[in-house]
Amino acid sequence: MKLNRRILVSMAAQTLISSTCVAGNVTPTHLRCDYAANPLGIDVARPRLSWVLISDERAQVQTAYRVLVASNEARLAADQGDLWDSGKVASDQSIHAAYGGKPLPSRMRVHWKVRAWDKNGKASPWSKQATWQMGLLKPTDWKAKWIGAAGDSPPPMLRKTFDLDSPVKRAIVYASALGLYELRVNGSRVGGHVLAPEWTDYRKRVQVQTYDVTRMLRAGTNAIGAMLGDGWYAGRIGISHIVATGSPLRGFYGDRPRLLFQMEIERADGRRRTIVSDRTWKLSTEGPLRSSCLLDGETYDARLEMPGWDLPGFDDSLWTPVDVKERVTAKLVAQPNEPIRITEELKPVGMTEPRPGGGVFVFDLGQNMVGWCRLRVRGASGTAVTLRHAEVLDADGTVYTDNLRVPGDGKPFGARQTDVYTLRGEGEEVFEPHFTYHGFRYVEVRGFPGRPSLESLVGCVLHSASPRAGQFECSNPVLNKLMENIVWTQRGNMHSVPTDCPQRDERMGWLGDAQVFSQTACFNMDMARFFTKWAQDIRDAQALDGRYPDFAPHPFDPNAGFSGAPAWADGGVIIPWRLYVNYGDRRILEQHFASAKRWVDYVRTQSPELIWTGKRGNDYGDWLNGNTLILEGWPRSGAAVPKEVLATAFFAHSTELLSRMAAVIGRSGDARRYACLAKSIKAAFNRAFVKPDGRIHGNTQAGYALALHFDLLADERRQLAVKHMVERIKARDGHLSTGIQTTTRLMLELTRTGHTDLAYSLMNNPTPPSWAYMVEHGATTIWERWDGYVDGRGFQDPGMNSFNHYAFGGVGEWMVRTILGINPDEEAPGFQRFVIHPRPGGGLTWARGSYESIHGTIVSDWKIEGDSFTLTVTVPVNTMATVFVPAKERFLVTESGKPAEKAEGVEFLRTENGAAVYSVGSGTYRFTARRFVEE
Ligand code: BGC
Repeated sequence: MKLNRRILVSMAAQTLISSTCVAGNVTPTHLRCDYAANPLGIDVARPRLSWVLISDERAQVQTAYRVLVASNEARLAADQGDLWDSGKVASDQSIHAAYGGKPLPSRMRVHWKVRAWDKNGKASPWSKQATWQMGLLKPTDWKAKWIGAAGDSPPPMLRKTFDLDSPVKRAIVYASALGLYELRVNGSRVGGHVLAPEWTDYRKRVQVQTYDVTRMLRAGTNAIGAMLGDGWYAGRIGISHIVATGSPLRGFYGDRPRLLFQMEIERADGRRRTIVSDRTWKLSTEGPLRSSCLLDGETYDARLEMPGWDLPGFDDSLWTPVDVKERVTAKLVAQPNEPIRITEELKPVGMTEPRPGGGVFVFDLGQNMVGWCRLRVRGASGTAVTLRHAEVLDADGTVYTDNLRVPGDGKPFGARQTDVYTLRGEGEEVFEPHFTYHGFRYVEVRGFPGRPSLESLVGCVLHSASPRAGQFECSNPVLNKLMENIVWTQRGNMHSVPTDCPQRDERMGWLGDAQVFSQTACFNMDMARFFTKWAQDIRDAQALDGRYPDFAPHPFDPNAGFSGAPAWADGGVIIPWRLYVNYGDRRILEQHFASAKRWVDYVRTQSPELIWTGKRGNDYGDWLNGNTLILEGWPRSGAAVPKEVLATAFFAHSTELLSRMAAVIGRSGDARRYACLAKSIKAAFNRAFVKPDGRIHGNTQAGYALALHFDLLADERRQLAVKHMVERIKARDGHLSTGIQTTTRLMLELTRTGHTDLAYSLMNNPTPPSWAYMVEHGATTIWERWDGYVDGRGFQDPGMNSFNHYAFGGVGEWMVRTILGINPDEEAPGFQRFVIHPRPGGGLTWARGSYESIHGTIVSDWKIEGDSFTLTVTVPVNTMATVFVPAKERFLVTESGKPAEKAEGVEFLRTENGAAVYSVGSGTYRFTARRFVEE
């Protein structure tokens, strides 16, 4: 008998009949509304509710649930769901239960709780209460106007005062900007958001942030202060000098920033008051922030500070009226993703003065990071301290900035990454930028009065603050460092959108890079909200003819160019699919399906005979494949998979995913149609590119990896293709020659086809191209190029040589899937069912790690001692896992000391390729296999 959820549920029913009264043994915790804990400003009519169940009993499942949603706390405490009482729903669904109650008007704050029935049909106690609050849902809810400076100016400061005569019960601010804003109330910063409202296609939508400022208000006069920066809206944007025409190369969405502000105050006596941005606000452009640019950095003159500008009582008689813009066509939407925040501060690990006596100091933060520095300094008024940020050092110990692409002639290209602070000259001064960010490990400090100390600055790490979801550790320190570098690279490239790099004048949301890294990203961090937001950016950037963009947002014209490249544009299909697989999110597929279909239909029009030979946009191919390496004795040819092979492989893959999406959302006609098309594309691929001996046109590692990974090959050719792939690796003396599209895919296919040993040897390979080479050469993030820096030869082409590029870090996926063995099951998304299949090898003696799934914590922890292999796994309540225990014979496996197949919650399934395979319900299990064999 195969133990599965249905059987557990029917066992539950039987237990009920025999009515052995066991107390309810599951507890709902971690209540979330559309992935967020107690969110404000929800603008979805039917938000989805999720909870995590915990239990100390094995094989626990939810057999039913009941959700209550009430209009106040007291009602909910009295178990009254006046807005929604779901009733007892016989279901194992504990994620994404859509609210089904009364329509919720703008601003409504609701309280909710849930109880669950366990496998014995026993009800849990009610969970703790949680809340969510609706945002402003109708355009007419908005009374605020867009305000800013009338002409070009340094970043403006805005202010407004108002009187309050009675105590405040609750005050909510809805704010946004065209550009960037920082908000203050009565002298204190509102929220910890950095670079709000973040990057969207401002022509179509602008994100609103909602803050509870109740405790910041006081009786009497109150003051609101705001600062504005150009940001993505009005400032410079990466690669604009290549893509855009004309000048100036800024202001791609608009010429100057504007603020939108609406504070809604509910007083204790029930009266309401609304304070909005309008013509009563005042503005100054004489403040300390003289210039700010995302790429170039900030200039701040503290002599121009106006103490008290954000407090009542400040004399603003010299400030001018604001300019009001009546109409902005973009839609206002709630921010779905976690805000960008400072998540960590790094103290410098060293400081040098490369040319002694020169007064130029170089700080080392010990880690290539992304954010800015907080500087502490004392000195004379008017002293200017300049901070230049760089990822690496030159041979002489000075900062190496060539890869920031700043031309010598002062043209507005490149990313200067330079902050200049001018002292006001009173006591200790603290400076931190506002509307920029830099990618750096080293900071060059010039003009510092006296000699700085290690305490003079700290590095503030900032990024979209998606919570960490994965932990990884094993017996090989190089692999641990590699995973740490992958995580740092991910953190360094999440600034509202997944960027290619954080330092040079690029920082674009390239779909090709994000798509290959997306599963690694999900293993490391909870990407649900971040990718939900970005999927919308992708849809917003889709060209009229169906082409997905190469990057999103697309600040230029997606119809004109930088759209529709194979593997890049296909990210528009792959990313939503990942959201579905990892988080069980069907709604994203419903929202995205029509758009994905337009893309696949477009490619179909470019593919006569189902081979994608028509328009392929910029056709990047397998970017940074082996042919681009400059290494002694390394061939400059033979590595690039032919572009039509890559393109057609992605055409087949996207079509297949589309058909699966259709099946999930119940569009069976589309599911059949696209399944059939995918089959035909595969047949065409085989006819055009695959020889009977399994050789694929081009005979590249990459070509085999793609064909295998996308299941393009007829069975009889699969094994032959595997042989060729292995042979191609041997032909490179055991090295990779793959580019960013195929490296991770090759690793995964080596393991899937029984060549994990070879995958491990690529992992451990100390010579370039390899991950270990980077790590052993001091990398603290993943390099863009395998040969970004090579002993003897030095740096690669400075025109394209980032040291913080996650694409080759996609191997993190292989590490989690293979070393920890944690794998989602696409048939039961959201880790409702998953596979634990660790594959020891490569000299590893232990590994342990965890993953915070949407259903709860998954743990995989194994070690080899003598001839025994021990695997401890934790399976969340209401999920099931298929566990592979490497063992010669099933009877050699025990669980917590007993024969495994007799253990509670464990069901033996089969033996497969040297592993005993079990199905297990929730709980923690300790399997031990004696006389274990490595694969
Ligand atoms: C980026 C890449 C990106 C590529 C397109 C580069 O400049 O840094 O990571 O995918 O352009 O080929």
